Amino acid sequence: MTISLQWTSHVPGIWKTTIGDPSDLSPLAFIGCRPKTEALKQMGEAVFPFESGDVAAESKRRGPLLSVPLTASEKLYGLGLQFMKLNQRGRTRFLRVNSDPKQDTGESHAPIPFVVSDRGYGILIDTSRIVTVHLGSTMRLSETRPEQIFDRNNQRAQWKATLVSERMEFVLPSEGADVYVIAGNSALDVVRRYNLLCGGGALPPRWGLGFWHRVPTLFTDKQVMEEALEYRKREFPCDVIGLEPGWHSKSYPVTYEWYEGRYPNPKQFVADMDREGFKINLWEHPYVSPESKLFEKLLPLSGSYSVWGGLAPDYSLEEARTAYQEQHRREHLSIGVSGYKLDECDGSELTGNSWMFPAHAEFPSGHDGEQLRQMYGLMFQKMTTDLYREEDKRTYGLIRASGAGASSLPYALYSDLYDHKQFIRALCNASFSGLLWTPEVRKASSAEDWVRRMQAVCFSPMAMLNAWGDGTKPWSFPEVEHIVRHYIQLRMRLLPYLYTAFAKYHQDGTPPFRAMPLVTGSGPSESGGTLAGGAAVKVDTVDAAYGGNKKKEWDDQFMIGDDLLVAPLFAGEQERDVCLPPGRWYGLESGDTYEGGSVIRVAPGLERIPVFVRDGAVIPMTPWRPHAPRQGEQMPLLLCHFGDAEGGCMLYDDDGESFAYERGESVWRQAEVRRSADGSWSGTLAGHERSFPSTFGEVQWRFSLKKLE
Ligand code: GAL
Repeated sequence: MTISLQWTSHVPGIWKTTIGDPSDLSPLAFIGCRPKTEALKQMGEAVFPFESGDVAAESKRRGPLLSVPLTASEKLYGLGLQFMKLNQRGRTRFLRVNSDPKQDTGESHAPIPFVVSDRGYGILIDTSRIVTVHLGSTMRLSETRPEQIFDRNNQRAQWKATLVSERMEFVLPSEGADVYVIAGNSALDVVRRYNLLCGGGALPPRWGLGFWHRVPTLFTDKQVMEEALEYRKREFPCDVIGLEPGWHSKSYPVTYEWYEGRYPNPKQFVADMDREGFKINLWEHPYVSPESKLFEKLLPLSGSYSVWGGLAPDYSLEEARTAYQEQHRREHLSIGVSGYKLDECDGSELTGNSWMFPAHAEFPSGHDGEQLRQMYGLMFQKMTTDLYREEDKRTYGLIRASGAGASSLPYALYSDLYDHKQFIRALCNASFSGLLWTPEVRKASSAEDWVRRMQAVCFSPMAMLNAWGDGTKPWSFPEVEHIVRHYIQLRMRLLPYLYTAFAKYHQDGTPPFRAMPLVTGSGPSESGGTLAGGAAVKVDTVDAAYGGNKKKEWDDQFMIGDDLLVAPLFAGEQERDVCLPPGRWYGLESGDTYEGGSVIRVAPGLERIPVFVRDGAVIPMTPWRPHAPRQGEQMPLLLCHFGDAEGGCMLYDDDGESFAYERGESVWRQAEVRRSADGSWSGTLAGHERSFPSTFGEVQWRFSLKKLE
């Protein structure tokens, strides 16, 4: 039976309809997403991207089915944090939260029913339940064309397991769901509108973009301090030290209380670390130990199943949230803890054991185990983000499960998986769904593997060594210590550029790290894949989705901001291909010149990760420091102009730590570089004279660089 859909204009460029009678618990409702309406308006008028009736819903015995027509060559991206491929066309995605997503099924730490089409539209399902999406992988009998049927015995080459279907189907929860249609002139536009719908991207504190180190789980306060000071001695920058389960008086299940044996005076410890320029981040998970003072309070507010013998609280209840928040405020925030690593909220299934309550668990709010599991990651992000906001402090942390609507939550995802190529692909894929991801380093099979992982992590949303289990240090491979030091220092030098890219994420929804399909700028097109400027560079073909996986997807390179392109190498590789968007590019550290709109081959040696900078770009930099500047501190600004073209950049500034920027205390400065008739270069920085307390002291210019000095 057909369900008639009433689309209402929700915010500029986004339409909404409600199918059925959805649960009150949904990601967007729980997070309380406040769309950035002004920024959405500035993106201009948009028309509903479908003909009337093209998006259809039917009521089926299993629940409502939503379907959307596809063109034969359309590519489909998103679906949350996916490790296996970029273009999801031709696949079926089962969007269940799973801590161990080794199979290409769609299950993931952060599965999101949000699909971005290269034709310039997006579909978002806002639900706390598992959704299955068939992205052109199902063929209705009535639509099956005889010319698509081949005989596998004799026509092996033409035969395909999945016929090219021109329909995408969403199997919605039986109770229904809210559905959003998002318009855009390009995939990037759609993603920007999605991020703005969710309140704009997260702006981490400046220190969050420094280097992070997580110490072995049973370290004591003294060992932590020693390790931290070793960073200073060896001139490795570091901003954040993460404590793992050993700081709790009991773990698995946890107490959220300090273990006196290792941390006799937590307040003093946090203050001492702060004096040396280190923030403290605390690991935790959701399951509350009977030994915790929170236990009695949370017992009646918890689900009907325990995990490791601990409570699984029902955080859809305000009373439970308040209990958790009060305890955290009192024991952690009040002594200066900077944030959390929110672990195990996806349930661990690494060994085939289910370390999670079942879907049929019942919770006092009336919600069930499926909903709480799908929502746990979002719930912890929201509760902790709110805590810091109350104190007018920004946080930045780690989360192992997430979902729809998370763009504004200041958390980076991570995983116990460790395939380096998958880690980079996840970084790319995160950019379609308002997620941030860290390809964290833990250990390495060789010095080469160590360097390649360290180089890449320094160009990611969170540069982190997670030594919780392996006790590694950045200098663990002495023969390559200098290379690792160089890249951690380079990350610090790029801080003004990185911070500006995040500010843009917050302001206009542009992801700071972008997969290559988001570098398209040519608007809706049947073929997709023309890169900014219009040159025909094939990113992949739709055939790849239906069997013939021959073409490269460029899922191993990405952009940071508008002007840097990063193309990591992986252990065992001496050279690689890079797909450069049109225009002239320079090797950031090699100085080599390349004409874009083409595929180039580079062989940089172990000392270098290939990073490319656009001709005419101005990269705002600073000398490296052991840690990021704290509120009120100044650093010198170095405006590095590259190449022969005139150009410029925007530079964002605020106090780096509070929410004062939301109250108008922020500034966008504009740098411009011009060449006069006699060939000499000059630069201007507008907005620097403003009374806003600048993070930048002395300003220096470098012109026409071919490589970084
Ligand atoms: C894992 C997590 C690791 C580490 C460990 C501590 O679940 O992914 O990074 O924190 O727990 O037990």
